[in-house]
This record gives sequence, C-alpha cells and structure tokens, in this order.
Amino acid sequence: MFDLVAGPSRQRLYLPDAPSSELWTYNGYAPGPEIRVKKGERVQVRFTNKLEEPTSVHWHGIRIENSMDGVSGLTQEPVEPGDTFVYDFVAPDAGTFWYHAHNKSWNQVARGLYGPLIVDEVEPVFERSNDITLVLDDWRLAGEGVLDVASLGSMMEWAHGGRLGNWLTVNGQSRPVTDLVRGQTYRLRLINAANARVFEIDPNRFGATLIGFDGQSFTEPAKLDYAPLMLGPAQRVDLMVVAKSDFTIEEVSGDTPYPIAGFSVSDSETTEASRSDKKLQPNVLPSADLAKARRIRLQMTGGAMGGMIDIIYKGKKLQGDDFRTARQAWAFNGVANLAEEPFFEARQGETILVETVNRTAWVHAMHVHGHHFQILNRSGSDVDEGKPWRDTFLIGPDQTTEIAFVADNPGKWLFHCHMLEHAAAGMNTWFQVT
Ligand code: C2O
Ligand code: CU
Repeated sequence: MFDLVAGPSRQRLYLPDAPSSELWTYNGYAPGPEIRVKKGERVQVRFTNKLEEPTSVHWHGIRIENSMDGVSGLTQEPVEPGDTFVYDFVAPDAGTFWYHAHNKSWNQVARGLYGPLIVDEVEPVFERSNDITLVLDDWRLAGEGVLDVASLGSMMEWAHGGRLGNWLTVNGQSRPVTDLVRGQTYRLRLINAANARVFEIDPNRFGATLIGFDGQSFTEPAKLDYAPLMLGPAQRVDLMVVAKSDFTIEEVSGDTPYPIAGFSVSDSETTEASRSDKKLQPNVLPSADLAKARRIRLQMTGGAMGGMIDIIYKGKKLQGDDFRTARQAWAFNGVANLAEEPFFEARQGETILVETVNRTAWVHAMHVHGHHFQILNRSGSDVDEGKPWRDTFLIGPDQTTEIAFVADNPGKWLFHCHMLEHAAAGMNTWFQVT
C-alpha cells in the first residue's frame, strides 16, 4: 500500500534566492512521488486529504475500473478534509501516466496537486537508470517569484486560453540537469501537467525519436516528420535518445527557444553497453469496428471572440449576468458542464466515433476518461502514421477531428477539455457505458 497525502507545503519555484511558495502537493512536493508498478499489477494507494477543501485523485490515462477513476461528483464523493480513501485498481497498460486532483482541478492542479504514474513493461524495455520521467509545468509567479494565487479563477482567462504561467519547471525545478552516460540509450517520458499551456518541443533538435504517446507505446520508434511536436495539457510523449553529447530540451513556441531541461553526457568507467535491440512492447487495445461505429457529433462553442451563443447550464438557458455568476463561457452542443443525462450512452463493446467540431477561436485539449482512442481524420492536418492511441487530442480553431474507440469499460466517464479553466467554464460532459 502506497501512502499519498495531499496537503499544503512550501517549495521554491523561482531562482535559488527567491522566497518559497505555499503550494498544495502530494507528500510535500510538486510533482508528487513517482508511483511505479508493473503492467497488470495492482495499484493500491491510501489517500489522505490534509487540505482544507474536498478533493479526489484521478489516474489519468489508466483504463481503470469506473469506481476508481477519482472524479469528484461523478465516480465518487469527494474526499473531505481529514478523510481517507483507498484507491485500488489494476494497471492494464504499460506506459507513462499521471495522477492529479479532480475536484476544482483548475485550482488544485495549478497549486501543485499532480504526480507521475509509471507502469513498466512486464520485461522492462529500458534499464531503470535509463528511464527518465520529466514532469513539465508552467507556473504563474508574481512579486519576488512566488505563486500568484490572487489571479486564480480569473473569468477573463477562463473565457480565453486558460491560465498560462510565466515560469517553466521540470520535476519542480527550473532547468534541471540530468547526467547521462555516453553511448547509452534513454527513454524520456514527458508529461505536461500544466493547466493550459501547450508545450512545443522539437525532438529532432536533440536527435530523439518518438516511441509512445499518452501511455501507449508504438510498435517501432518514429521520427517526427513535422515540427514542432505540440504537447497539450495532460498529454505525454515518450522519446528515445542515444546520449552522444550534451543536449537541452527546449520549448520552441517563442521567438527564441527556451531551455527547460539539460542533459550532461559523460563517459563512464564501467561502461556496460546498453542494450541496443530495444523491442518496444505496445499494449493491445480493442480495435474499433468502423463499419458498425455509431457517430456522435460534438460541437464546441463559446469563449472570447466566439460570438453570442446560447448556453444551457443546469437545465436553464443562461441570460445576461448569468454567464458571469455561473462562471460559464463554453458549451458542447449548447450545454455547459455536466447535465443530468449523459451526452451519449454506449452499449459495452460498441464502437463510438466522435466527430468534434471546434467552432471557437481557441485550441483545446480533449480528454476521454477510461478509454484510449485513435484519431481517424482531422481537417487541415494529416493523422499520425500508424494511428497511435491517445487519451487526449488537441483541436485547433475551426478544426474538425474524428476519433474512434470501443466503449468497453462500463461506467460514467468524463469527456472534457483538459485546459482546466475551459473544463470548469463549461467544456465538460460525460457519457455512460452500460
Ligand atoms: Cu487528467 Cu478529467 O482528467
Ligand atoms: Cu479548451
């Protein structure tokens, strides 16, 4: 049994002489401890809430039993302050996953409530020392470099691109440097834990290939033939790199690339050749039966510059001041946030094809709980070679994207934008598998 405790703790985010910030973390540090199991093993976590507000823990990307999905108000009652909840589930897939708070996530995750969950292959593909987890975040710092809590919940941001930070960290540190051994092959697991930032990374700049997305390994390493790679909120990418000389991972969205993590490569005396015959071990997922697929249409509307739209929230049409008081700004098919009725119901085993049309002026990161899907088509952009499995997809303004998956996991599952402010402000729905 693994003990996980959510509570306030202090951590320095900015430069070495800057004051520390009061964060909310798991076991005292953001990111929280790496939970690591083998594929097919049980994950047992005794979770205790030492925050002053209710919370719950979601195991992002795990094709989990519904009662363990950790969604406050949908799959469980939130864990009250002082209370304990035992999460107990099997990790069916080897890969890079993460956990995070799923009650008022826009606030709780922004304050540091997230951590990595790594599921090793039955026969690990990489040596433990050659397998490196990098949890990316961007923080909004104010004043002398402390977390800006006053700006949390800005309705302006909820209706725009969400809460963007001004300080990037990897594993809670600014530009950490990791030592590597020359000639060895490494797996780098990147996890985007930011509320709303899309990290832009170019693996070609440091000679890395892609070996997995969102916790699902490819059959063969793939070279990225477009650049940069957009790593949306909640998305993961596994990279493979042979350490030849020092290199840096940079965020390349700005005019000048911004270094976020360094790697220092040196020769080792005890040079053991690293295994070069890395055979990736993809998980086996149920393949969609497209001939029998049921098509669900989801139209995204709202947000700044989205024009006037009608929004139904909690069964009522919002008018005038309602938008501000209800803090809603976005809708799926005209409905903001969770309705009584599911967005759709699926029979267990049925193939569902969701056609998402983004009629907003913003990019979104849509996440399906409890299932992985494949992207079949997207307007204006080719789908990736081999149709990799994903649990979160990015969709740009005016883009249409079709995804398909077998609804094989019974229960109530969220489908929402992982830009956490967008989810809170309406981009949040659910479906039921029976
Ligand atoms: Cu990463 Cu609804 O979750
Ligand atoms: Cu969004």
